[in-house]
Amino acid sequence: MDVTREQWSGKLGFILAASGSAVGLGNLWKFPYITWNNEGGAFVLVYLLCIAVIGVPVMMSEILIGRRSKKSPASAFAALGNPRWSFVGWLGVVAGLVILAFYSVIAGWSLRSFVQCVEWSVNGYKAPAPEAFGEFLRDGTAQIALGALFLGATAAIVGRGISGGIERATRVLMPVLFAIMIYLVINVMLLDGFAEALAFLFRPDFSKLTGHSVLEALGHAFFTLSLGMGGMLAYGSYLQKKDDIPRISLTVAALDTLIALVACVIMFGIIFTVPSLRATMEQARATGEGVSSVGMLFVTLPDLFYTKMPGGALVGPLFYVLVAFAALSSTISLLEVVVASVAERVGITRWRATLVATALVFVPSVACALSLGASEGLSTLRLFGGLESLNHIVAGGKTGALSIFDHVAANWLLPLGGLGLTVYAGWVMRREDTAEELFGEAGA
Ligand code: PHE
Repeated sequence: MDVTREQWSGKLGFILAASGSAVGLGNLWKFPYITWNNEGGAFVLVYLLCIAVIGVPVMMSEILIGRRSKKSPASAFAALGNPRWSFVGWLGVVAGLVILAFYSVIAGWSLRSFVQCVEWSVNGYKAPAPEAFGEFLRDGTAQIALGALFLGATAAIVGRGISGGIERATRVLMPVLFAIMIYLVINVMLLDGFAEALAFLFRPDFSKLTGHSVLEALGHAFFTLSLGMGGMLAYGSYLQKKDDIPRISLTVAALDTLIALVACVIMFGIIFTVPSLRATMEQARATGEGVSSVGMLFVTLPDLFYTKMPGGALVGPLFYVLVAFAALSSTISLLEVVVASVAERVGITRWRATLVATALVFVPSVACALSLGASEGLSTLRLFGGLESLNHIVAGGKTGALSIFDHVAANWLLPLGGLGLTVYAGWVMRREDTAEELFGEAGA
Protein backbone atom coordinates (compact mmCIF):
# COMPACT_ATOMS: atom_id res chain seq x y z
CA MET A 1 0.00 0.00 0.00
CA ASP A 2 1.30 3.37 -0.96
CA VAL A 3 1.08 5.22 2.32
CA THR A 4 2.95 8.28 1.17
CA ARG A 5 0.53 9.16 -1.62
CA GLU A 6 -1.08 12.54 -1.07
CA GLN A 7 -4.75 12.65 -0.22
CA TRP A 8 -7.43 15.30 -0.31
CA SER A 9 -8.16 16.78 3.07
CA GLY A 10 -11.45 14.94 3.33
CA LYS A 11 -14.49 14.64 1.18
CA LEU A 12 -14.97 18.36 0.75
CA GLY A 13 -11.50 18.71 -0.75
CA PHE A 14 -12.34 16.14 -3.39
CA ILE A 15 -15.77 17.59 -4.13
CA LEU A 16 -14.22 21.02 -4.56
CA ALA A 17 -11.49 19.82 -6.86
CA ALA A 18 -13.82 17.58 -8.88
CA SER A 19 -16.42 20.30 -9.28
CA GLY A 20 -13.62 22.73 -10.02
CA SER A 21 -12.73 20.46 -12.92
CA ALA A 22 -16.34 20.00 -13.99
CA VAL A 23 -17.50 23.60 -13.72
CA GLY A 24 -15.80 25.73 -16.33
CA LEU A 25 -16.16 26.99 -19.84
CA GLY A 26 -18.33 23.97 -20.59
CA ASN A 27 -21.01 25.42 -18.34
CA LEU A 28 -20.53 29.13 -18.87
CA TRP A 29 -19.41 29.35 -22.48
CA LYS A 30 -20.30 26.19 -24.37
CA PHE A 31 -23.61 25.04 -22.92
CA PRO A 32 -25.49 28.34 -23.41
CA TYR A 33 -24.27 28.71 -26.97
CA ILE A 34 -25.00 25.16 -28.08
CA THR A 35 -28.38 25.36 -26.35
CA TRP A 36 -29.07 28.46 -28.42
CA ASN A 37 -27.95 26.79 -31.65
CA ASN A 38 -30.03 23.69 -30.88
CA GLU A 39 -33.11 25.76 -30.03
CA GLY A 40 -33.49 25.14 -26.31
CA GLY A 41 -36.12 22.97 -24.56
CA ALA A 42 -35.89 19.54 -26.16
CA PHE A 43 -32.09 19.74 -26.36
CA VAL A 44 -31.91 20.69 -22.67
CA LEU A 45 -34.10 17.75 -21.73
CA VAL A 46 -31.95 15.28 -23.65
CA TYR A 47 -28.88 16.79 -22.05
CA LEU A 48 -30.34 16.37 -18.55
CA LEU A 49 -31.16 12.74 -19.33
CA CYS A 50 -27.62 12.12 -20.57
CA ILE A 51 -26.18 13.58 -17.37
CA ALA A 52 -28.39 11.44 -15.13
CA VAL A 53 -28.41 8.17 -17.05
CA ILE A 54 -24.91 8.15 -18.53
CA GLY A 55 -22.86 10.86 -16.84
CA VAL A 56 -23.31 9.84 -13.23
CA PRO A 57 -22.51 6.13 -13.74
CA VAL A 58 -19.45 6.99 -15.84
CA MET A 59 -18.28 9.35 -13.13
CA MET A 60 -18.65 6.67 -10.47
CA SER A 61 -16.66 4.23 -12.63
CA GLU A 62 -13.85 6.69 -13.14
CA ILE A 63 -13.53 7.64 -9.51
CA LEU A 64 -13.63 4.07 -8.30
CA ILE A 65 -10.93 2.91 -10.72
CA GLY A 66 -8.80 5.80 -9.50
CA ARG A 67 -9.28 5.07 -5.84
CA ARG A 68 -8.80 1.33 -6.25
CA SER A 69 -5.57 1.67 -8.24
CA LYS A 70 -4.15 4.79 -6.55
CA LYS A 71 -2.39 5.48 -9.84
CA SER A 72 -2.48 7.88 -12.78
CA PRO A 73 -4.79 7.01 -15.69
CA ALA A 74 -1.98 5.48 -17.76
CA SER A 75 -0.84 3.10 -14.99
CA ALA A 76 -4.15 2.41 -13.23
CA PHE A 77 -5.14 -0.59 -15.33
CA ALA A 78 -1.78 -2.31 -15.02
CA ALA A 79 -1.86 -1.75 -11.27
CA LEU A 80 -5.23 -3.51 -11.16
CA GLY A 81 -3.85 -6.46 -13.12
CA ASN A 82 -5.01 -5.60 -16.65
CA PRO A 83 -2.13 -3.90 -18.46
CA ARG A 84 -3.88 -4.45 -21.81
CA TRP A 85 -6.46 -1.86 -20.77
CA SER A 86 -3.83 0.87 -20.42
CA PHE A 87 -4.86 2.19 -23.81
CA VAL A 88 -7.94 3.69 -22.13
CA GLY A 89 -5.64 5.77 -19.93
CA TRP A 90 -3.51 6.85 -22.88
CA LEU A 91 -6.62 7.75 -24.85
CA GLY A 92 -7.42 10.07 -21.94
CA VAL A 93 -3.97 11.63 -22.16
CA VAL A 94 -4.57 12.38 -25.84
CA ALA A 95 -8.02 13.78 -25.07
CA GLY A 96 -6.51 15.95 -22.34
CA LEU A 97 -3.97 17.42 -24.75
CA VAL A 98 -6.56 18.03 -27.46
CA ILE A 99 -8.98 19.76 -25.08
CA LEU A 100 -6.27 21.79 -23.41
CA ALA A 101 -5.14 23.12 -26.78
CA PHE A 102 -8.42 24.84 -27.62
CA TYR A 103 -9.71 25.38 -24.10
CA SER A 104 -6.80 27.62 -23.14
CA VAL A 105 -7.52 29.86 -26.13
CA ILE A 106 -11.15 30.36 -25.09
CA ALA A 107 -10.13 30.85 -21.48
CA GLY A 108 -7.99 33.70 -22.78
CA TRP A 109 -11.13 35.50 -23.95
CA SER A 110 -12.15 35.97 -20.32
CA LEU A 111 -8.97 37.94 -19.69
CA ARG A 112 -9.80 40.31 -22.53
CA SER A 113 -13.34 40.75 -21.18
CA PHE A 114 -11.91 41.46 -17.76
CA VAL A 115 -9.69 44.25 -19.07
CA GLN A 116 -12.54 45.64 -21.11
CA CYS A 117 -14.84 45.70 -18.07
CA VAL A 118 -12.26 47.45 -15.93
CA GLU A 119 -12.03 50.14 -18.59
CA TRP A 120 -15.83 50.50 -18.75
CA SER A 121 -16.09 50.61 -14.98
CA VAL A 122 -13.54 53.41 -14.84
CA ASN A 123 -14.39 55.45 -17.93
CA GLY A 124 -18.06 54.68 -18.41
CA TYR A 125 -19.75 52.09 -20.61
CA LYS A 126 -19.78 52.39 -24.38
CA ALA A 127 -21.68 49.59 -26.07
CA PRO A 128 -19.17 47.84 -28.34
CA ALA A 129 -19.77 47.66 -32.07
CA PRO A 130 -21.28 44.30 -33.10
CA GLU A 131 -18.16 43.44 -35.12
CA ALA A 132 -15.75 44.13 -32.23
CA PHE A 133 -15.70 40.57 -30.97
CA GLY A 134 -15.02 39.15 -34.42
CA GLU A 135 -12.12 41.55 -34.81
CA PHE A 136 -10.66 40.37 -31.53
CA LEU A 137 -10.93 36.77 -32.72
CA ARG A 138 -9.04 37.62 -35.89
CA ASP A 139 -6.19 39.17 -33.90
CA GLY A 140 -3.77 36.22 -33.99
CA THR A 141 -1.19 37.77 -31.67
CA ALA A 142 -3.76 38.42 -28.94
CA GLN A 143 -5.21 34.94 -29.31
CA ILE A 144 -1.81 33.27 -29.03
CA ALA A 145 -0.61 35.47 -26.17
CA LEU A 146 -3.72 35.08 -24.01
CA GLY A 147 -3.88 31.33 -24.60
CA ALA A 148 -0.19 30.97 -23.76
CA LEU A 149 -0.68 32.98 -20.58
CA PHE A 150 -3.34 30.53 -19.56
CA LEU A 151 -1.22 27.51 -20.33
CA GLY A 152 1.65 29.01 -18.34
CA ALA A 153 -0.55 29.61 -15.29
CA THR A 154 -1.88 26.06 -15.48
CA ALA A 155 1.62 24.61 -15.76
CA ALA A 156 2.85 26.62 -12.78
CA ILE A 157 0.11 25.16 -10.58
CA VAL A 158 0.22 21.58 -11.84
CA GLY A 159 4.02 21.47 -11.62
CA ARG A 160 3.71 22.14 -7.94
CA GLY A 161 1.54 19.11 -7.15
CA ILE A 162 -2.00 18.34 -6.40
CA SER A 163 -3.30 19.63 -3.11
CA GLY A 164 -1.06 22.68 -3.05
CA GLY A 165 -2.92 24.85 -5.48
CA ILE A 166 -6.18 23.28 -6.56
CA GLU A 167 -7.88 22.79 -3.23
CA ARG A 168 -6.99 26.15 -1.79
CA ALA A 169 -8.05 28.15 -4.83
CA THR A 170 -11.37 26.36 -5.44
CA ARG A 171 -12.33 26.53 -1.79
CA VAL A 172 -12.58 30.31 -2.05
CA LEU A 173 -13.48 30.89 -5.67
CA MET A 174 -16.31 28.44 -6.28
CA PRO A 175 -18.54 29.89 -3.55
CA VAL A 176 -17.87 33.42 -4.81
CA LEU A 177 -18.82 32.38 -8.36
CA PHE A 178 -22.07 30.84 -7.06
CA ALA A 179 -22.89 33.96 -5.10
CA ILE A 180 -22.35 36.24 -8.08
CA MET A 181 -24.44 34.03 -10.33
CA ILE A 182 -27.30 34.13 -7.84
CA TYR A 183 -27.07 37.90 -7.76
CA LEU A 184 -27.14 37.99 -11.57
CA VAL A 185 -30.17 35.70 -11.74
CA ILE A 186 -32.07 37.90 -9.30
CA ASN A 187 -31.42 40.86 -11.55
CA VAL A 188 -32.41 38.94 -14.66
CA MET A 189 -35.72 37.96 -13.03
CA LEU A 190 -36.67 41.61 -13.18
CA LEU A 191 -36.12 41.83 -16.94
CA ASP A 192 -38.91 41.51 -19.50
CA GLY A 193 -37.20 38.61 -21.23
CA PHE A 194 -37.03 36.38 -18.15
CA ALA A 195 -40.28 34.47 -18.74
CA GLU A 196 -39.39 33.85 -22.36
CA ALA A 197 -35.97 32.60 -21.34
CA LEU A 198 -37.55 30.04 -19.01
CA ALA A 199 -39.97 28.92 -21.71
CA PHE A 200 -37.13 28.61 -24.23
CA LEU A 201 -35.14 26.43 -21.85
CA PHE A 202 -37.77 24.31 -20.19
CA ARG A 203 -40.65 23.95 -22.64
CA PRO A 204 -39.46 21.24 -25.01
CA ASP A 205 -40.50 21.41 -28.63
CA PHE A 206 -39.52 18.02 -30.02
CA SER A 207 -39.97 19.11 -33.61
CA LYS A 208 -36.71 21.05 -33.10
CA LEU A 209 -34.75 17.98 -32.07
CA THR A 210 -32.44 16.43 -34.66
CA GLY A 211 -30.18 13.39 -34.50
CA HIS A 212 -27.29 15.80 -34.49
CA SER A 213 -28.57 17.65 -31.43
CA VAL A 214 -28.99 14.40 -29.51
CA LEU A 215 -25.36 13.53 -30.20
CA GLU A 216 -24.23 17.00 -29.26
CA ALA A 217 -26.12 16.74 -25.95
CA LEU A 218 -24.47 13.40 -25.24
CA GLY A 219 -20.99 14.64 -26.06
CA HIS A 220 -21.51 17.72 -23.97
CA ALA A 221 -22.59 15.63 -20.97
CA PHE A 222 -19.11 14.06 -21.04
CA PHE A 223 -17.38 17.35 -21.62
CA THR A 224 -19.13 19.30 -18.90
CA LEU A 225 -18.62 16.61 -16.25
CA SER A 226 -14.95 16.15 -17.29
CA LEU A 227 -15.56 12.49 -18.02
CA GLY A 228 -13.81 9.98 -20.22
CA MET A 229 -10.31 11.46 -20.14
CA GLY A 230 -9.23 10.19 -16.75
CA GLY A 231 -9.50 13.47 -14.87
CA MET A 232 -11.91 12.04 -12.34
CA LEU A 233 -9.76 8.89 -12.22
CA ALA A 234 -6.68 10.96 -11.40
CA TYR A 235 -8.52 12.92 -8.71
CA GLY A 236 -10.16 9.73 -7.39
CA SER A 237 -6.72 8.25 -6.82
CA TYR A 238 -6.22 10.77 -4.02
CA LEU A 239 -9.62 10.03 -2.46
CA GLN A 240 -9.85 8.47 0.98
CA LYS A 241 -11.24 5.02 1.47
CA LYS A 242 -14.18 6.04 3.61
CA ASP A 243 -15.73 8.54 1.20
CA ASP A 244 -18.97 7.58 -0.51
CA ILE A 245 -18.42 7.53 -4.29
CA PRO A 246 -22.07 7.43 -5.50
CA ARG A 247 -22.99 10.34 -3.26
CA ILE A 248 -20.01 12.41 -4.24
CA SER A 249 -20.69 11.79 -7.95
CA LEU A 250 -24.29 12.88 -7.58
CA THR A 251 -23.24 16.03 -5.77
CA VAL A 252 -20.70 17.01 -8.41
CA ALA A 253 -23.11 16.29 -11.27
CA ALA A 254 -25.91 18.25 -9.60
CA LEU A 255 -23.70 21.26 -8.92
CA ASP A 256 -22.38 21.28 -12.47
CA THR A 257 -25.87 21.03 -13.96
CA LEU A 258 -27.21 23.78 -11.74
CA ILE A 259 -24.47 26.17 -12.81
CA ALA A 260 -25.03 25.38 -16.49
CA LEU A 261 -28.76 26.02 -16.26
CA VAL A 262 -28.34 29.21 -14.25
CA ALA A 263 -25.84 30.46 -16.83
CA CYS A 264 -28.46 29.87 -19.54
CA VAL A 265 -31.21 31.65 -17.63
CA ILE A 266 -28.96 34.67 -17.19
CA MET A 267 -27.86 34.85 -20.81
CA PHE A 268 -31.20 34.12 -22.47
CA GLY A 269 -32.93 36.49 -20.05
CA ILE A 270 -30.78 39.30 -21.46
CA ILE A 271 -31.02 38.18 -25.08
CA PHE A 272 -34.81 38.06 -24.98
CA THR A 273 -34.90 41.50 -23.37
CA VAL A 274 -32.65 43.39 -25.78
CA PRO A 275 -34.09 43.32 -29.33
CA SER A 276 -30.79 44.12 -31.05
CA LEU A 277 -28.99 41.30 -29.24
CA ARG A 278 -31.78 38.93 -30.07
CA ALA A 279 -31.68 39.85 -33.73
CA THR A 280 -27.92 39.25 -33.92
CA MET A 281 -28.23 35.93 -32.15
CA GLU A 282 -31.07 34.75 -34.36
CA GLN A 283 -29.12 35.64 -37.41
CA ALA A 284 -26.10 33.78 -36.05
CA ARG A 285 -28.22 30.68 -35.58
CA ALA A 286 -29.78 30.90 -39.01
CA THR A 287 -26.44 31.24 -40.77
CA GLY A 288 -24.68 28.40 -38.93
CA GLU A 289 -22.11 28.97 -36.25
CA GLY A 290 -21.89 32.72 -36.12
CA VAL A 291 -19.25 34.55 -34.12
CA SER A 292 -21.84 36.07 -31.82
CA SER A 293 -23.24 32.79 -30.61
CA VAL A 294 -19.76 31.40 -29.97
CA GLY A 295 -18.96 34.58 -28.07
CA MET A 296 -22.25 34.74 -26.18
CA LEU A 297 -20.66 34.67 -22.73
CA PHE A 298 -18.46 37.57 -23.70
CA VAL A 299 -20.86 39.73 -25.71
CA THR A 300 -24.22 39.53 -23.92
CA LEU A 301 -23.31 40.04 -20.28
CA PRO A 302 -21.78 43.52 -20.40
CA ASP A 303 -25.18 44.85 -21.44
CA LEU A 304 -26.65 43.46 -18.21
CA PHE A 305 -23.78 44.65 -16.04
CA TYR A 306 -23.66 48.19 -17.30
CA THR A 307 -27.20 49.07 -18.29
CA LYS A 308 -29.61 46.86 -16.34
CA MET A 309 -28.44 46.23 -12.81
CA PRO A 310 -27.02 48.00 -9.78
CA GLY A 311 -23.40 47.34 -8.86
CA GLY A 312 -22.46 46.20 -12.35
CA ALA A 313 -19.30 48.27 -12.40
CA LEU A 314 -17.99 46.06 -9.61
CA VAL A 315 -19.62 42.80 -10.64
CA GLY A 316 -18.52 43.01 -14.29
CA PRO A 317 -14.76 42.78 -13.85
CA LEU A 318 -15.10 40.38 -10.91
CA PHE A 319 -17.32 38.05 -12.94
CA TYR A 320 -14.73 37.60 -15.68
CA VAL A 321 -11.99 36.99 -13.13
CA LEU A 322 -14.15 34.19 -11.78
CA VAL A 323 -14.76 32.82 -15.28
CA ALA A 324 -10.99 32.74 -15.71
CA PHE A 325 -10.57 30.86 -12.43
CA ALA A 326 -13.36 28.43 -13.25
CA ALA A 327 -11.51 27.74 -16.51
CA LEU A 328 -8.20 27.42 -14.66
CA SER A 329 -9.52 24.78 -12.27
CA SER A 330 -10.58 22.82 -15.37
CA THR A 331 -7.31 23.24 -17.29
CA ILE A 332 -5.50 22.10 -14.15
CA SER A 333 -7.33 18.78 -14.26
CA LEU A 334 -6.63 18.42 -17.98
CA LEU A 335 -2.91 18.95 -17.55
CA GLU A 336 -2.85 16.84 -14.38
CA VAL A 337 -3.91 13.74 -16.32
CA VAL A 338 -1.12 14.20 -18.83
CA VAL A 339 1.52 15.09 -16.26
CA ALA A 340 0.68 12.36 -13.75
CA SER A 341 0.64 9.74 -16.52
CA VAL A 342 3.87 10.85 -18.17
CA ALA A 343 5.70 11.29 -14.85
CA GLU A 344 4.68 7.84 -13.65
CA ARG A 345 5.20 5.92 -16.89
CA VAL A 346 8.28 7.63 -18.25
CA GLY A 347 9.80 7.97 -14.80
CA ILE A 348 10.62 11.67 -14.87
CA THR A 349 9.92 14.31 -12.22
CA ARG A 350 6.65 16.15 -12.04
CA TRP A 351 8.24 19.40 -13.13
CA ARG A 352 9.90 17.84 -16.12
CA ALA A 353 6.69 16.11 -17.15
CA THR A 354 4.87 19.43 -16.85
CA LEU A 355 7.38 21.12 -19.14
CA VAL A 356 7.15 18.34 -21.72
CA ALA A 357 3.34 18.33 -21.68
CA THR A 358 3.07 22.11 -21.93
CA ALA A 359 5.49 22.23 -24.83
CA LEU A 360 3.53 19.47 -26.55
CA VAL A 361 0.24 21.27 -26.22
CA PHE A 362 1.57 24.66 -27.20
CA VAL A 363 1.86 23.86 -30.91
CA PRO A 364 -1.76 22.73 -31.47
CA SER A 365 -2.89 25.55 -29.22
CA VAL A 366 -1.29 28.08 -31.56
CA ALA A 367 -3.10 26.40 -34.44
CA CYS A 368 -6.40 26.84 -32.58
CA ALA A 369 -5.58 30.46 -31.75
CA LEU A 370 -5.00 31.23 -35.42
CA SER A 371 -8.08 29.37 -36.61
CA LEU A 372 -10.51 32.13 -35.66
CA GLY A 373 -9.80 34.21 -38.72
CA ALA A 374 -6.13 35.12 -38.33
CA SER A 375 -5.00 32.37 -40.67
CA GLU A 376 -7.19 31.64 -43.65
CA GLY A 377 -5.90 28.08 -44.02
CA LEU A 378 -6.41 27.11 -40.37
CA SER A 379 -9.79 28.83 -40.18
CA THR A 380 -11.21 26.95 -43.14
CA LEU A 381 -9.45 23.69 -42.37
CA ARG A 382 -11.51 20.55 -42.77
CA LEU A 383 -10.38 17.40 -41.03
CA PHE A 384 -10.59 15.24 -44.15
CA GLY A 385 -10.17 17.92 -46.81
CA GLY A 386 -12.68 17.41 -49.58
CA LEU A 387 -14.12 14.15 -48.26
CA GLU A 388 -17.49 15.60 -47.30
CA SER A 389 -19.11 12.55 -45.80
CA LEU A 390 -16.13 11.82 -43.53
CA ASN A 391 -16.03 15.47 -42.47
CA HIS A 392 -19.66 15.23 -41.64
CA ILE A 393 -19.51 11.96 -39.72
CA VAL A 394 -16.29 12.45 -37.77
CA ALA A 395 -16.05 16.22 -37.42
CA GLY A 396 -19.73 17.12 -37.48
CA GLY A 397 -19.04 19.18 -40.60
CA LYS A 398 -16.97 21.63 -38.52
CA THR A 399 -14.38 23.89 -40.13
CA GLY A 400 -11.34 25.44 -38.48
CA ALA A 401 -8.84 23.87 -36.09
CA LEU A 402 -10.51 25.02 -32.88
CA SER A 403 -14.00 23.78 -33.75
CA ILE A 404 -12.65 20.49 -35.05
CA PHE A 405 -10.62 19.89 -31.86
CA ASP A 406 -13.68 20.66 -29.77
CA HIS A 407 -15.95 18.40 -31.76
CA VAL A 408 -13.59 15.44 -31.98
CA ALA A 409 -12.75 15.58 -28.27
CA ALA A 410 -16.29 15.98 -26.96
CA ASN A 411 -18.02 13.67 -29.42
CA TRP A 412 -15.43 10.94 -29.93
CA LEU A 413 -12.53 10.85 -27.51
CA LEU A 414 -14.47 11.45 -24.29
CA PRO A 415 -17.41 9.11 -25.04
CA LEU A 416 -15.01 6.37 -26.18
CA GLY A 417 -12.91 6.83 -23.05
CA GLY A 418 -16.07 6.78 -20.95
CA LEU A 419 -17.18 3.57 -22.61
CA GLY A 420 -13.81 1.97 -21.87
CA LEU A 421 -13.89 3.08 -18.23
CA THR A 422 -17.43 1.83 -17.57
CA VAL A 423 -16.92 -1.48 -19.34
CA TYR A 424 -13.79 -1.94 -17.26
CA ALA A 425 -15.43 -1.06 -13.94
CA GLY A 426 -18.55 -3.07 -14.73
CA TRP A 427 -17.23 -6.20 -16.42
CA VAL A 428 -13.47 -6.52 -16.18
CA MET A 429 -12.76 -5.57 -12.59
CA ARG A 430 -13.69 -8.16 -10.03
CA ARG A 431 -17.30 -7.65 -9.09
CA GLU A 432 -16.47 -7.67 -5.36
CA ASP A 433 -13.89 -4.94 -5.85
CA THR A 434 -16.29 -2.69 -7.74
CA ALA A 435 -19.00 -3.28 -5.15
CA GLU A 436 -16.63 -2.59 -2.29
CA GLU A 437 -15.58 0.72 -3.81
CA LEU A 438 -19.16 1.74 -4.48
CA PHE A 439 -20.94 0.54 -1.37
CA GLY A 440 -18.18 -0.06 1.17
CA GLU A 441 -17.45 -3.38 2.85
CA ALA A 442 -21.14 -4.13 3.24
CA GLY A 443 -21.65 -4.26 -0.50
CA ALA A 444 -18.86 -6.76 -1.08
N1 PHE B 1 -15.63 20.06 -17.64
C1 PHE B 1 -14.85 21.17 -18.06
C2 PHE B 1 -15.82 22.32 -18.36
O1 PHE B 1 -17.00 22.12 -18.35
C3 PHE B 1 -13.99 20.87 -19.26
C4 PHE B 1 -13.23 19.61 -19.14
C5 PHE B 1 -13.48 18.54 -19.99
C6 PHE B 1 -12.25 19.45 -18.15
C7 PHE B 1 -12.81 17.35 -19.87
C8 PHE B 1 -11.58 18.25 -18.01
C9 PHE B 1 -11.87 17.19 -18.87
O2 PHE B 1 -15.40 23.40 -18.61
